[in-house]
Amino acid sequence: MDCKIAVIPGDGIGPEVIGETVKVLKKIEKLYGHSFNFTEVLAGGCAYDVEGVPLPDKTLEVCRENDAVLLGAVGGPKWDTLPGELRPEKALLGLRKGLGLYANLRPAILYKELQSACPLKPEIVGDGIDISVVRELTGGIYFGERGRREGENGPEAFDIEVYSQKEIERIGRTGFKIAQQRGKKLCSVDKANILESSRLWRSVMEELSKEFPDVELSHMYVDNAAMQLVRDPKQFDVIVTNNMFGDILSDEASMITGSIGMLPSASLGEGNKGMYEPIHGSAPDIAGKNMANPIATIISAAMMLRYTFGLEKEAQSIENAVQEVLKQGYRTGDIMSEGMKSVGTKEVGELIIEELK
Ligand code: IPM
Ligand code: MG
Repeated sequence: MDCKIAVIPGDGIGPEVIGETVKVLKKIEKLYGHSFNFTEVLAGGCAYDVEGVPLPDKTLEVCRENDAVLLGAVGGPKWDTLPGELRPEKALLGLRKGLGLYANLRPAILYKELQSACPLKPEIVGDGIDISVVRELTGGIYFGERGRREGENGPEAFDIEVYSQKEIERIGRTGFKIAQQRGKKLCSVDKANILESSRLWRSVMEELSKEFPDVELSHMYVDNAAMQLVRDPKQFDVIVTNNMFGDILSDEASMITGSIGMLPSASLGEGNKGMYEPIHGSAPDIAGKNMANPIATIISAAMMLRYTFGLEKEAQSIENAVQEVLKQGYRTGDIMSEGMKSVGTKEVGELIIEELK
C-alpha cells in the first residue's frame, strides 16, 4: 500500500520521539511490503524561528496533500512570551481546524505491565483500566471569540464558549459509534448546571441516543467526572466531552494509566485523514537528553495505520511489540519502578523494532 505521511517533529522532545517512530514505521514498511512516503515539515516554535509564524502556509498545504499527519510536540519556554497568535500551540489549533479534525480519540489503557506505575490503589484498578476519551477538537472555548477590553473595574479579558447543534451532533455520533464497538456505555460530560452551551450539549446527546438504542447514555458534570475518574475509573467505557473538558480529563485519565508518556491520540474528521500525536507535550526539561518515552508516539503511529490506512495487522504488530518490550522490563524514567531496566528513548525504539514481526 502507498501511504503519504506528513511528519512534524516540532519542538522539545518532539524530534526524538518522532525519530524513533519513523524508524518503527520503516521496519513495518519493509516487513509488510508497503511504501511509506514521509514528508517532513515545520510547525510550532521551530517554524516561528525560521518562518516567523508557528504554522506556515506550506506546512498546512503539505498536510492537506498527505493522507495522514504524524506530529511530535510543539511549544517551549523560549516562545512563552510571544503573543497568542504566534505561540507554537497555535500551530496545533490551526492544523486541527484547517484539516477539519473535529474528533479527538484518546484511549487511556493501563497496561498490565505498568500496574505498579499507576498511582491508584490496586483494589481500585482491579484487572485494569480501559477508557476511551472522545474529545471535541475544533470548537468551544478554544475557538470562540476572545479578547481584552476596558471594564467597569479596569482591564478585563474574555474567552467565549460556543457550540452549534451540528458540532455537538457530529462529535456525539463519534462517541456513540465508538461505544457501540466497545462496552456500549457512553458518558457525556458537561457542566449543564451552569453553562448554556452544556445544556444544548446535553439535549443533543439525549436526542442522538434514540439513534443508538444499544448504547447506554449517561450524563455527568465535569467536576464530578474528575472525581469519579480517580474514585472508580472502572465505571467508564467511553467518555464524550467538549474541547476544554476533554483536554483536562484526558490528562487526568493518562495519569491513572501510569504515565502521560504512554498515551497516543488520533484526530479525525469526515474522511480517513487523520493527525496522530502523543497526548504529552514537548517536555523541554528533558529534551535532547535521550530520556523521553517514545511509546505514546509509536502507538499513535499504530493508530494511524489502523484508522487512516486500515492496516490492522500492522497496527497490532506495533502494539504487541510495545507490550513485549514492557514485559521484558525495559522502562524510560517516567514509568520506571523497582527492579526494572532503565533505558533511554533510542533504546526503547530499537527494542521495539527488534520485536516487530
Ligand atoms: C493537548 C494539548 C493542546 C491542547 C495544547 C498544546 C494546545 O494540551 O493536545 O491536549 O490544549 O489541546
Ligand atoms: Mg492537553
